[in-house]
Amino acid sequence: MTANTKEAPVHLWLKDLGADASVEGVYLVKDKRSGVSRKGDSYLMLVLSDKSGEIEARVWEKADSLSARFKTGDMIRLQGQVTSFKGQNQVVISDLTVAEGTVDPAIFLEASPFAVSDMIAGLREILRDMEETHTRAVIDRFMGDTEFMSRFKRAPAAKNFHHCYLGGLLEHTLAVCRLASDVCARYPSLNRDILLAGAFLHDIGKVKELSCDLQIDYTDEGRLIGHLALGASMLDEKIREIKGFPAELAIRLRHLILSHHGEYLFGSPKKPKFAEAFALHFVDDLDAKLNALGRILERDREDGSWTRYNRLLERYL
Ligand SMILES: [Fe+2]
Ligand SMILES: [Fe+2]
Repeated sequence: MTANTKEAPVHLWLKDLGADASVEGVYLVKDKRSGVSRKGDSYLMLVLSDKSGEIEARVWEKADSLSARFKTGDMIRLQGQVTSFKGQNQVVISDLTVAEGTVDPAIFLEASPFAVSDMIAGLREILRDMEETHTRAVIDRFMGDTEFMSRFKRAPAAKNFHHCYLGGLLEHTLAVCRLASDVCARYPSLNRDILLAGAFLHDIGKVKELSCDLQIDYTDEGRLIGHLALGASMLDEKIREIKGFPAELAIRLRHLILSHHGEYLFGSPKKPKFAEAFALHFVDDLDAKLNALGRILERDREDGSWTRYNRLLERYL
């Protein structure tokens, strides 16, 4: 018996596109540039994406009229053909329109492979042993703030580099807390409460720095202020609610957030200046880089044993 309900077409994931495949579907335009061929004809160079990956695309025919229909950041419905150029697949687009109606966000937004409820339980467990009352109180204020927590559970940790998917901030924060706890077991002179508080707090500003509707991008305050300064002022707000919060502890917690990138070059207004701040910087960097490395290797489609040159890490891998 034939079903007469009209089913939504199955999305063709970019990572699965083989040479010579015909493509029809909705993709996000991540980058759009125009060029002029030697013959003087206009063409478009695009980067298309879905949550499985990215692919370069070209519009050779009717480039000017098709270009007027969309901009970077739009979802486009396209028809095209995969061709191979210098060993890389690219899509040659024959027609496109801006995607109308509701676009399924699950096509574009990747999510952490770990369940949010498990990660929250893991975070609560590792933070449970905090002893110092005021440090405990400030963490409890964040964990009990339902608006903050709903953003914290959904936020990515970055736009492009590491943990750049829904739930990525929570996954990264949990990993940094676990690494911090391990480091404390190895170096008993470290203050576990301070280091764990720093691990939990270090990237909280990312809930305001990044937006994640159909794609991850920087917010205006993210671009203008950044997650270190945003996080420090979010911390200050919570500290103001806690009576008799020790001034010195407040300064140390602020320093952990403001120095965690380690170097002026990486956006830290201050370099780490006590042991827990050093340790936080290193465990944060370790988790961020290992996640980024895993994603680069997983997504690389280069022939041979080396990846393409990676601009973020400034090396072949
Ligand atoms: Fe950070
Ligand atoms: Fe981080």
